[in-house]
Amino acid sequence: MSIHPDFTPSGSLQFGVFFQGVNSGTVWKLPQSGSQTDFQSFRRVAQTAERGLFAAFFLGEGLRLREHLGRVHELDVAGRPDAQTMLAALAGVTSRIGLVATQNTTYNDPADLAGRLASLDALSGGRAAWNVVTTDNAWTGENFRRGGYLDHADRYRHAEAFVRFAKEFWATEPGRRVLHSGQHYSIDTTARLPRSPQGRPVLFQAGDSPEGRDFAARQADVIFSAHPGFDDAVAFRRDLVERTLAAGRSPEELQIMPASEFVLAPTSAEAREKLVWLRELQIGPQQALAYLEQFWGRSLAEYDPDGPLPDVDPVVETTSETRGSAFHGAKALELAAAWRAEATDQGLTILEFVRQRNARGARSIVGSYTEVADLLAEYARVGAVDGFNISPWLIPSGLDEIVDRLVPELQERGVYPTEYAGTTLREHLGLPAPERSRV
Ligand SMILES: Cc1cc2nc3c(=O)[nH]c(=O)nc-3n(C[C@H](O)[C@H](O)[C@H](O)COP(=O)(O)O)c2cc1C
Repeated sequence: MSIHPDFTPSGSLQFGVFFQGVNSGTVWKLPQSGSQTDFQSFRRVAQTAERGLFAAFFLGEGLRLREHLGRVHELDVAGRPDAQTMLAALAGVTSRIGLVATQNTTYNDPADLAGRLASLDALSGGRAAWNVVTTDNAWTGENFRRGGYLDHADRYRHAEAFVRFAKEFWATEPGRRVLHSGQHYSIDTTARLPRSPQGRPVLFQAGDSPEGRDFAARQADVIFSAHPGFDDAVAFRRDLVERTLAAGRSPEELQIMPASEFVLAPTSAEAREKLVWLRELQIGPQQALAYLEQFWGRSLAEYDPDGPLPDVDPVVETTSETRGSAFHGAKALELAAAWRAEATDQGLTILEFVRQRNARGARSIVGSYTEVADLLAEYARVGAVDGFNISPWLIPSGLDEIVDRLVPELQERGVYPTEYAGTTLREHLGLPAPERSRV
């Protein structure tokens, strides 16, 4: 199978680790569950990833704990440290792994953020990356003095102006002026640091709409996608190859690493049993109701988690984003009807339904070590993805099995590195040199 006549797969994979912090995917109830905020947990995961030759250690961004119906999500009260601060600390206890900070373009200011990312890149010896996001929730907007937030299209216009400025800022010799005057920003500053060993921070992008994908096609080095399933990943790659060509770039310049969860065991049957056990730990009755409430936009406290899906319709608001990132308001009624039909067809209760379709359900790659290695080799062969950004479901030991059991299988199949390609993240990923320096 060829994905696209104008696209040549690299034939190999890279791994990143996404330390999630607040989420419903990390199991916190087992005796071996550790802290999700303590530096030692981050250090342990980053060092294990480095032992497994992972290209990147990745952190998301949430500038305010997620809220829902006026309450902070139960799972969020564990907290989440600031990404750049944490990555700066990790730079000191690792030597090769890339350090990816998710940072949004809606609330940050370009010269300030570009300067801080250049600092992380400098102090880590060329290992920094920025995952550019626009952030889609109103509660984050309330954090900021100017209040409110931009609509979807404007967020991407800001993002593009922001990233263009950052690239120019990074390409400029220290002490020289960088002027930017546009509809969204008016900036007069001086570049502050020499270029890092990798030229500038690598740019990741996350955001799945057509606008988000076109933005990535024009500006990003790597997409952190939400499409890990094989067929979905192939379709996503095909789409991005077209968009990258339309943007006048070569499709190999834009890599794709989907979010994923790995559930592994010595045998196929054990892996499937483990998945059921894991879903039970990840989603309890309260989480199942809270999950549905995000889509229904109303309290469902009176519904029995062991009963059928709610028979009331969701509340449709004009500001759909207030209900969370997974949600698109206009589709609320349609979605609720489809879910009810699906649950009725399969005879599922609320709890069973949510466990089954758990937000991360589709992200799971499940099987024995050899099965999963064979499957991943197939992704590499056709070029469906360039790697996976893996969220361990157990902190801090969740990567051990991947590094000790899966990585050697992949190396044997010739689809995973046997050593780091260099010292910078750009080298690990095999990305071309960035824009040339302005003098
Ligand atoms: C895989 C993925 C990861 C994301 N991670 C974050 C994040 O850590 N912080 C954040 O504020 N937004 C995050 N976003 C949301 C994006 O910033 C964006 O606002 C949202 O996806 C809406 O844009 P879209 O319609 O283009 O998808 C993520 C989106 C995707 C698809």
